[in-house]
Amino acid sequence: MKIGLFADAHYSSQELTCGKRRNRRSLGKLREAYSYFARQQCGLAISLGDLIDKNGSHALDVRCLEEVSEVIAASGIETVCIMGNHDAFTFNREAYYGILGGCEPADRTVDGLRLMFPDTCFFRSGERYTPAGGDWTDCFLPAQDAFLSALSGSETPAAVFLHHNIDPSVPENHRLYNADALFRGIDCSKKVKTVFQGHYHPGRRIRHGDVLYVTLPAMCENENAFFVFDTLDPGEM
Ligand SMILES: [Fe+2]
Repeated sequence: MKIGLFADAHYSSQELTCGKRRNRRSLGKLREAYSYFARQQCGLAISLGDLIDKNGSHALDVRCLEEVSEVIAASGIETVCIMGNHDAFTFNREAYYGILGGCEPADRTVDGLRLMFPDTCFFRSGERYTPAGGDWTDCFLPAQDAFLSALSGSETPAAVFLHHNIDPSVPENHRLYNADALFRGIDCSKKVKTVFQGHYHPGRRIRHGDVLYVTLPAMCENENAFFVFDTLDPGEM
């Protein structure tokens, strides 16, 4: 199965933020992404998080997420939306997936490849991110042991999709607090073919041992920042 991928749309009503995020343009880019995914006959699309950005008014935040939801629904392509820090600092899980009308990540196996979606919107204290916000560099996967034992307890090869970064070559302030332990566990499991991440906007593609780490370049800062992954060729992209 072909899977369409994108990350860090940061859609909002703002024209430009942080000097380089073209927030408002992302809705059109999402339409372009989905029309490309349709031409490629993708059976699934995955957003790697930070679909939206804050507007300064929660009513506008809701409207922006509704507009994204309309693009997804019109595509007819099943979509999984992983929450990123900007999503989780704007909406709680229930509200986010309620407005999106589904799209909640759930592990599954496609073409003999297990797709895993660890939720990393947690502080290192183990508390889940909330719309109260917090330090964006404080990110953590509290379910580390469950995630790693799920990998080692199965013979099925896997691809991992998450918002934050495990790749040791990504700057430290973007990496999970327990990234080193996850990196070692993934390496030792010998099950993971590819790890897909968002969050680090320049993007990166690097192989560490047998595992390909792909950080998608941010949609809000780039043109044509949408990609297709084939589950029949899981170690390549
Ligand atoms: Fe992020």
